Amino acid sequence: MQLLVLNGPNLNLLGEREPTIYGSASLADIEAACRALADELGTDLRFEQSNHEGGLVDALHAARSDTDGVVLNAGAYTHTSIALRDAIAATALPTVELHLSNTHAREAFRHGSMIAAVCIGVIQGFGAAGYPLALRALHTHLQNNP
Ligand code: DQA
Repeated sequence: MQLLVLNGPNLNLLGEREPTIYGSASLADIEAACRALADELGTDLRFEQSNHEGGLVDALHAARSDTDGVVLNAGAYTHTSIALRDAIAATALPTVELHLSNTHAREAFRHGSMIAAVCIGVIQGFGAAGYPLALRALHTHLQNNP
């Protein structure tokens, strides 16, 4: 099984970026936790980040040939990007929407998601711990829906 964890804009700054909201773990720390879980689950994992909407669309397109499912923290593009929603729908890859923060407890402009309706589920509000939770959820979904 090949899984992709895909991260959007500003997530490369995790650890130094607004730590009271996003915590102190860096993206490298999160990647290490995801890799440890992937080893435990016996799955292959790619871990990517782009600050660009088109880069995220390209990553999803590239994934369709060799990837079984995606954990996507699309960052702010979650709330704005029809292109990202269309890319998830076009690739038809099972995708888990993920956020470190509980976006519903924050500013009104973060309450909507352009991508939720084309994702299999959403995990948010658990900080960095949400990444392994989302990977486990995706792995279970893929096992139950071969
Ligand atoms: C985020 C929430 C988004 O609203 C925000 O723009 C981010 C991070 C999160 O992980 O909590 O960049 O996706």
